[in-house]
Amino acid sequence: MSRRLIYLDNNATTAVLPEAVREMVPFLSVYYGNASSAYSLGQESKEAVQSARRRVACLLGCLEEEIVFTSGGTESDNTALWSALRTSGKRELVTTAVEHPAVYRFCQELERDGYRVRWLPVGSDGRLDPADVARAIHSETAVVSIMWANNETGVLFPIREIGEICRAHGVLFHTDAVQATAKVPIAVAEMSVDFLSVSSHKFGGPKGVGVLYVRQGVPFHPYFWGGSQERGRRAGTENVAAIVGMGRAADLAAERVGQFAERVGKLRDRFERTILAGLTEVRINGQPAERVPNTSNLCFHNVESEALLMELDRQGIQASGGSACSTGSAKPSRVLVEMGLSVREAFSSVRFSLGWNNTEDEIDRAAAAIVAAVRRIREKLPAALVAE
Ligand SMILES: Cc1ncc(COP(=O)(O)O)c(C=O)c1O
Repeated sequence: MSRRLIYLDNNATTAVLPEAVREMVPFLSVYYGNASSAYSLGQESKEAVQSARRRVACLLGCLEEEIVFTSGGTESDNTALWSALRTSGKRELVTTAVEHPAVYRFCQELERDGYRVRWLPVGSDGRLDPADVARAIHSETAVVSIMWANNETGVLFPIREIGEICRAHGVLFHTDAVQATAKVPIAVAEMSVDFLSVSSHKFGGPKGVGVLYVRQGVPFHPYFWGGSQERGRRAGTENVAAIVGMGRAADLAAERVGQFAERVGKLRDRFERTILAGLTEVRINGQPAERVPNTSNLCFHNVESEALLMELDRQGIQASGGSACSTGSAKPSRVLVEMGLSVREAFSSVRFSLGWNNTEDEIDRAAAAIVAAVRRIREKLPAALVAE
């Protein structure tokens, strides 16, 4: 058995692209200046940050001035919601029950502080009905926050349509595009989106850096206060090397996002076909909704995902039982339970998320290993359970 890793958890994080590493290294050693310093060493850093800004703006299809560098998806999400509440003076938010904790837990915290949150449900395939968004908007609504793609199932939300609904109601719209960036084309300027969150480590950039897109003309209230970095929108000395790495990753993503479905999507479909052909009682969570091309969330009836994941890990196959943030907690996936899965079904589900690095051979080996492991686990089950 080969001990080479087969990494199928790209929604948790991705390997940093070698091209990004190469561009980052000089900014950790030679060009270590503070981007706010007026002398030439500082100006090198400032120019590198500006160049990264151009590259990210190109990936998102927006203006450079609309890009605010942050520490990642979580900060971008928190900042967008906070800004909308502070600038509008209103006290209500509309969001879904299946958002990433970066939105979900922040909204829960806001509820404890007396804000009102209207939580929208999703259907059994994870889809959101845009009519529910329109119904939830009230005169006190400051912002609607709905993810572009779900991190656990990959289900895509109708962002264009929701944006238009928000625009028609005069309400700000934020979308968490962390799991959509570099997987599907994003032309944010063409959509009625006011805030959009991006995280570098989900598309081949380093961890701890991200972007908040803020549409030109949208009032903004910072979350961090201090220096005047990012034109006063995000205080704190820029993480220049990380920003440079993200810029390079964005550049590559812009170049090849159109091929993502062609390459990674084909592998994902092959993976699912092989598993469905090899096993009975497997369900694809999120089907038949439209999904990002790399994500496959599978429910294996009568199989505890923990046991399966441990067995796969022993064979060098890395996948996850839910979002990485909840790994280790004994709670079933909130997202899957919201989609109507029973607690047992949620505990029987595994998320596989593919990336550019995966090969056809890896996918075939992983699928074969999964089929064999599931069969072994099921064979050991007491007869009473199987009959259920
Ligand atoms: C949909 C979504 N939003 C936000 C985040 C948080 O991003 P970061 O890890 O950069 O804080 C993640 C990370 O898993 C995510 O999947």
